[in-house]
Amino acid sequence: MKDKLNTLKQEAIEKINSSNSKDELNLIRINYLGKKGDLTAILKTLGSCTPEERAEIGKLANITKQELEGLIEEKNKALDKAVFDNLKETEWIDITAPSNKVKVGNAHSITQIQYELEDIFKSMGFSIFEGPEMEDDYHNFEALNIPKDHPARDMQDTFWLDNGNLLRTHTSSVQVRTMEKIKPPLQGISPGRVFRYEATDASHENTFYQVEGLMVGKDISVANLIYVMKVLLKEIFKRDVKIRLRPGFFPFVEPGFELDINCLICNGKGCSVCKHSGWVELLPCGLIHPNVLKMQSIDTEKYSGFAFGLGLNRLVMMRYGIDDIRHFMAGDIRFLEQF
Ligand code: PHE
Repeated sequence: MKDKLNTLKQEAIEKINSSNSKDELNLIRINYLGKKGDLTAILKTLGSCTPEERAEIGKLANITKQELEGLIEEKNKALDKAVFDNLKETEWIDITAPSNKVKVGNAHSITQIQYELEDIFKSMGFSIFEGPEMEDDYHNFEALNIPKDHPARDMQDTFWLDNGNLLRTHTSSVQVRTMEKIKPPLQGISPGRVFRYEATDASHENTFYQVEGLMVGKDISVANLIYVMKVLLKEIFKRDVKIRLRPGFFPFVEPGFELDINCLICNGKGCSVCKHSGWVELLPCGLIHPNVLKMQSIDTEKYSGFAFGLGLNRLVMMRYGIDDIRHFMAGDIRFLEQF
C-alpha cells in the first residue's frame, strides 16, 4: 500500500512538472486528488487495513495530498508568470516609432464655397431656405411664369420622372416655396443641387449646384440687386470687382439680366479665359416678374423684389482656374484633396 502510494506520488509529480498549461494542470489535479481520483481511491480502501496500518498510511496519504496540492499551486503560479513574461515579447510596442499618418478629410470644394456664401448672406440678414430635389411641374415651371407648352421650357432640358414629377432644373423653385410660406418683406438664399438632361462636356454637367437668392420688399429695385451683388463679390474674391448688366431673358424676371464681372485673370485687359473681352459671365438675375408675385398673392402695388441664380460650380472653377466641370462629380481623390 505504501509502495503504491509512493509510485502514485512520483507519477503525479512528473506529470505536474511536465505540464505546460493550466488546463492540463487542472486535469492532473482532478485525476489524482478529485473525488474519483487515484489518491482518493487509495484512501477509500483504508477500511480493510489494520488500525496501525490505517494510521500510518492515512497520515502518509494526507501528507502526499498536501504535497501534491502545494506543487500544483506552485506550478500554476509559474505558468502565470511565464504568460506574463511572454507578453513582454509578444505585446511589445515601440512608442517612439513614427505613427501611421491619420488622413484628415475635407469638405468638397462646392460645399466649402456654399458655406462661405451662407455666411456672407447671413451677415446681410438673409435666411437660408431649402426645397426638394424632386419637384413638381408647378413649382419648377408654372409658378415661375413658364406655362405648359411655353417655348421657354426648352431652355432647360429636364429629367422627367415616371410619377409626373421632375428633378428640379434650378433652385428657382425654392423662390416659389419661400413665398408660399413667408410674407414680405423677406430675403433668403437657397443653395442646392440641380439637374439637367445634358450631353456632358467640359462646361456641361447633368448635376450641378446653384444658390438662388431673392429679396421681396417695399421699393426693391435694381440698385438693391447691384449693391448686394457687389458685397457678395467683394467678400468672395477679396477685392473690388467691376460688374456690368446685360439684358437676359428668363420668364420669371422683368427686367432680366446677365451679370458679368471684369475678368480676374487679366484684370479686364483681355485674355483667353474671357475670350479677350475683359468680361466673364457670372450670373443671371433680375426683378421678380409681377406674374410670379401675383401667383403668390403678393400685392405688386406694394411690393417688388429681385432674384438671382448663382452657379456654384462656375464660381469654384473661376476661383481655382479649373477647366472642366466634370471633375466635381468624378470623385477622383487627387482632385478633391486639393481644396
Ligand atoms: N433659374 C435660372 C437658371 O437656372 C437662373 C435665374 C435665377 C435667372 C434667378 C434669373 C433669376 O437658369
